[in-house]
Amino acid sequence: MAAISTTLPLPPVVRNPRHWFFGPAYYAQREPLKWIPKWFEQYGDLFTVSSPLGRATILGRPEWARQVLADAYPRYQQKSQAYVVLRLLMGNGLVTSSGEFWRGQRRLAQPAFHRRRLDFIFGMMVEQTLRYAKRFEQQAGGGRTLDVAPLLSHLTLDIISRAMFSTDVNAGAAEVSEHIAALNEYALRLLRQPWLFLLPRRIPTPLNYREITAGRKLEKIVMSIISERRRNADMHDDLLAMLLSACDEETGRGMSDVQLRDEVMTIFVAGHETTANAMSWLMFLVSQHPEIEEKLTAEIDAAWASDSLGSGSISNFPYTRQVVEESLRLYPTIWSVGRQCGEEDAIGGFKIPVGMNVVVPIFHFHRSERYWNDPMRFDPERFSPERRPAAEPMIYFPFGAGPRNCIGNHFALQEMVIMTAVFYRYFTFRLEPGFLVEPDPLITLRPKHGVRLQIVSRRKLEGGT
Ligand code: HEM
Repeated sequence: MAAISTTLPLPPVVRNPRHWFFGPAYYAQREPLKWIPKWFEQYGDLFTVSSPLGRATILGRPEWARQVLADAYPRYQQKSQAYVVLRLLMGNGLVTSSGEFWRGQRRLAQPAFHRRRLDFIFGMMVEQTLRYAKRFEQQAGGGRTLDVAPLLSHLTLDIISRAMFSTDVNAGAAEVSEHIAALNEYALRLLRQPWLFLLPRRIPTPLNYREITAGRKLEKIVMSIISERRRNADMHDDLLAMLLSACDEETGRGMSDVQLRDEVMTIFVAGHETTANAMSWLMFLVSQHPEIEEKLTAEIDAAWASDSLGSGSISNFPYTRQVVEESLRLYPTIWSVGRQCGEEDAIGGFKIPVGMNVVVPIFHFHRSERYWNDPMRFDPERFSPERRPAAEPMIYFPFGAGPRNCIGNHFALQEMVIMTAVFYRYFTFRLEPGFLVEPDPLITLRPKHGVRLQIVSRRKLEGGT
């Protein structure tokens, strides 16, 4: 890449006397939805925030987002603080690795996520969702309410476990889920209290102990499934089988056990919490818009009458998909992506020095009045064939952009359309009166106190699909 002129000025730095102690970077991480839009108004489309633990430049123009994520992506690496935490959970897998190693891994893993492969797991996704619908049915009526967030998290974990290991994980599913939850909790604590970074992990605090134990147990389960599969390779048709048989055309090599373990962990972690949170937001939004729910259920009932979700495709549910896409606009569960500049660059006439963290706040693009009419309104018609935004410029990218975009985007869309079609076929969901649904932006944008819904039955669940 061409060298960049070093005579350019650095981006303006946010100053706020009320943030003197922790520094604005801390508030950018803790309350980004509040502060980042304010600072864009005050400082323009690019500014730097700092804190005693580091600094970051935040950018707000589509062409700059494209520069960092796509056009000049080799200059920017996955080394910002969130990735340091993610590395503890996922090792050196697709999300956290960089450079040639990442490129090789992406080449190896890509075929496992091909759209055609999703047809194989369509039935499984429907079956698992129906199992959870049965649980909803037990809770329906009587005015009781239920926090759907943890349930959705279990459902998406069940789906990703089965997509990855088919039936091998049946017995250990609860255990896997428990360990992943413990690791998630650890990561969240680190992000909420970044000073914990200063404490070495080997100090046996209760938190460190739980993380280390959960990590070891999970690793044992995953490694034992991998080695069993290496001995007995021919009987499965799942993501793990694809990853095991993947062979790089350029080098002729497959993945080592350690690489496999890291990719399995990566896909587990990247592929369940994101979709579960997105689904919680969708259910919250629909509960607030009866007219949208009416249109949604009309489509689901009509499509189901002719097909009962048996076709192995979500193409019969175009409006349902619009609802999914519009919820991901208002609540992109990966609300921002961060990179670290590895080779000096220039953005918008400012110098981006080596080592600078650069943040692309996806939510800002999705909610900006500059690009959307009445942006805070939940309006799935925005994604109708006539009004759907063009792929360029980058104003809507819930699955990221450029070569490091989400490898599981078709998987997630299919999963969310199926969950929506199944749940709204059988139930109506009403938000508990007075319940406050608040975003909590850590790595994913989650509803801080969950989403408490009253479940009202629309029709009895049939025996199967
Ligand atoms: C609604 C659900 C999801 C959302 C919003 C989402 C969003 C994203 C975003 C924004 C990125 C890019 C991160 C970056 O540029 O640093 C990403 C990467 C990734 N996602 Fe997803 N994701 C979702 C579901 C999934 C699922 C279901 C899987 C796996 C089955 C998955 C696996 C991955 C992986 C492995 C990467 C890293 C790709 C790479 O760097 O090569 N995601 N995701």
